[in-house]
Amino acid sequence: MPYFAGIDVGSLSSDAVIIDGDANILGFSVQPTGAHSTNAAEAALAEALDKAAVSRADLAYIVATGYGRVSVPFAHKRITEISCHGLGAHHLFPDTGTVIDIGGQDSKVIRLDKFGKVVDFSMNDKCAAGTGRFLEVMAERLGVSLDQMGALSQQAQREIEISSVCTVFAESEVVSLIARNQPKAEIIRGLHKAIVGRVWSMVKALGVTGAVTMSGGVAKNQGVVKLMEAKLGQKVHIHSEPQIIGALGAALAALRGGKA
Ligand SMILES: Nc1ncnc2c1ncn2[C@@H]1O[C@H](COP(=O)(O)OP(=O)(O)OP(=O)(O)O)[C@@H](O)[C@H]1O
Ligand SMILES: [Mg+2]
Repeated sequence: MPYFAGIDVGSLSSDAVIIDGDANILGFSVQPTGAHSTNAAEAALAEALDKAAVSRADLAYIVATGYGRVSVPFAHKRITEISCHGLGAHHLFPDTGTVIDIGGQDSKVIRLDKFGKVVDFSMNDKCAAGTGRFLEVMAERLGVSLDQMGALSQQAQREIEISSVCTVFAESEVVSLIARNQPKAEIIRGLHKAIVGRVWSMVKALGVTGAVTMSGGVAKNQGVVKLMEAKLGQKVHIHSEPQIIGALGAALAALRGGKA
């Protein structure tokens, strides 16, 4: 039986998914991209193959996506992230009309038709505020890990408003809040509110149709997800591994012989 692989080389994580001819997920991997994106893509593919118990020689087609897709020399085809996140989200949650992907270096809002085809999208890749990088910088400043942020923010009674629009100025604001002994939970909730506000302006401009699926690492942050749901007035779909949705979409494109 032939197998198919999708690899998403992002700014923070390089993710791989292996599927069979019936589009079942057999294995996946999430690896840090680090300084060598080709090595990261290799490592992600190797781990995903290992988990799937599939040998590389049995891969019929490999599609690469993500900003680092040019660094995957062994891919048969390279496809944009927009199409791949759309394909992946539609496959997991067929009622998806809107995908919100918040990754390490950009955030995107994608509108899909009922077949999962992209009809419109909006992207912020000019500014770190409104991306996962913003939360990475602040987590480091606050001395908390990324996976603690969501739970911590839920303990806050209120949020402290972060007024700076820019990551660098917001960081100074956080430094002075820490110096004034303000509760970390309230600062973190304010940071979540800030990032959701930035992404929300894109969501509003594009309009929401159908169910909303969030992809990318920031979808692991329950604090951000809850605030986004409050803004939307509806629940969002979150897969247990939101970072692999782009790679899954790439694998699905591979199954179609490279057609997005
Ligand atoms: N365990 C975690 N808990 C909460 N947030 C996380 C966790 N792991 C990663 N993140 C967030 O996810 C972001 C990275 O997401 P992702 O791996 O989807 O990015 P990427 O695809 O490499 O980036 P891009 O698509 O922008 O090139 C980080 O910046 C961080 O804010
Ligand atoms: Mg990404």
